[in-house]
Amino acid sequence: MKPVKVGLLGLGTVGTGVVRIVEGHQEDLASQVGSPIVIEKVLVQNKSKARNISISPEKLTEDAWEIIRHPEIDVIVEVMGGVSHTKEYILEALERGKHVVTANKDLMALHGPEILAKAQENRCDVLYEASVAGGIPIIRTLVEGFASDRITKVMGIVNGTTNYILTKMSQEGATYLDVLKEAQDLGYAESDPTSDVEGLDAARKMTILATIGFRANVALEDISVQGISSVSKEDILYAKRLGYEVKLLGIAERQDDLISISVQPTMVKQSHPIASVNGVFNAVYVYGEAVGETMFYGAGAGELPTATSIVSDLVAVVKNLKLGVNGMLGSLAYKEKKLKTDEQISSKYFLLLHVADRAGVLARITQVFADFEVSLESVLQQPNPSIPEAEIIVITHDANKAAIQKVLANFQSLDVVHKVKSVYRVEG
Ligand SMILES: NC(=O)c1ccc[n+]([C@@H]2O[C@H](COP(=O)([O-])OP(=O)(O)OC[C@H]3O[C@@H](n4cnc5c(N)ncnc54)[C@H](OP(=O)(O)O)[C@@H]3O)[C@@H](O)[C@H]2O)c1
Repeated sequence: MKPVKVGLLGLGTVGTGVVRIVEGHQEDLASQVGSPIVIEKVLVQNKSKARNISISPEKLTEDAWEIIRHPEIDVIVEVMGGVSHTKEYILEALERGKHVVTANKDLMALHGPEILAKAQENRCDVLYEASVAGGIPIIRTLVEGFASDRITKVMGIVNGTTNYILTKMSQEGATYLDVLKEAQDLGYAESDPTSDVEGLDAARKMTILATIGFRANVALEDISVQGISSVSKEDILYAKRLGYEVKLLGIAERQDDLISISVQPTMVKQSHPIASVNGVFNAVYVYGEAVGETMFYGAGAGELPTATSIVSDLVAVVKNLKLGVNGMLGSLAYKEKKLKTDEQISSKYFLLLHVADRAGVLARITQVFADFEVSLESVLQQPNPSIPEAEIIVITHDANKAAIQKVLANFQSLDVVHKVKSVYRVEG
């Protein structure tokens, strides 16, 4: 049996896991695909760096083109990260008829359509299961498991760092900055955490999930993004008192053919399954018109969980190779993208206001909601000894985003509202 030869770009956390799984599961893999899978060459930045895996030195190279142009390599596995070099390497590999497996959400969110078009042109596979939610096979599930259904909602905790921070804040009553520091010390958060905490990493993953879920090319600019850096421990305390947890949720929704996608800290009813996803774990909740509610849970990152997704993609590519059907599936994004306007995006909202502590204030505030046809589910007024004013907590019924923005703009000119302390979308 002729072995299938793989060129691995990157031997860091994920690349090391790929080598471990390909070598450790060699017999099972060969039985599934009908030939051995061999890692032929590995790209690194520095060949003399100490590795925590034993690998023959002649397999290592610092020259990417040696792998991309290697005549015997059938599949490129890209786990080096970054966008510009990787895009160049992958496009060239596809031109040369090599199939590609990647874990790179930044690349796929920014250049997915171009890369997938190039793959089709050259009858090649490009698979990217590990780019979203690490070890959870969510992409394959959306593409294959839901092929017969129409997905109307995909809601995910797709960033482990922010979920770890919010979980700690909720369980220990700690502040955002204290937990961020601890997460950095433990290696769960980067020294520059911006991409995670400001929601960009989650937005990139939601670009990929929404494109696949709704079969239309969603771009990063289509997503409204807010991170968790302004979530206070008081907000979390209020949420818990009212029966909610605060989670950074990516939410992609479709009604008829109109879609909306957002990433924001959201108050989730404690009874909703996604509210109990804690720590660095990820989960993706999918609603299909026919199937109803489903949820997928697991490790969102890490050496072996992520490598498992990559090697499963590799198995799929090799099975296609055996059948001679690589690159035959056609486009996944065959529908025209139609985005909702703010008037068409609807959800419940939580608002925490600091207001003047005197008679008639509540009536003036509820009048503003009424003026913009926002009806209220509950209103709670309470004294807060730490501030000179009163606090009002409002939970609305479903309201459109434009109406809520008008309510907030009106509060700015209302003398009795001293501060809009927090606004959250509410789910569940
Ligand atoms: N870590 C996770 O749990 C996880 C989960 C899901 C997806 N991903 C994605 O997987 C990819 C890899 O992540 P990682 O955590 O494994 O990264 P990493 O630990 O930083 O490893 C990167 C590897 O790529 C090599 N490399 C980087 N830039 C290079 C260049 N310009 N030329 C040659 N080699 C280069 C490095 O070489 P040296 O070893 O010589 O420095 C290293 O071996 C990223 O796209 C990431 O977003 C990661």
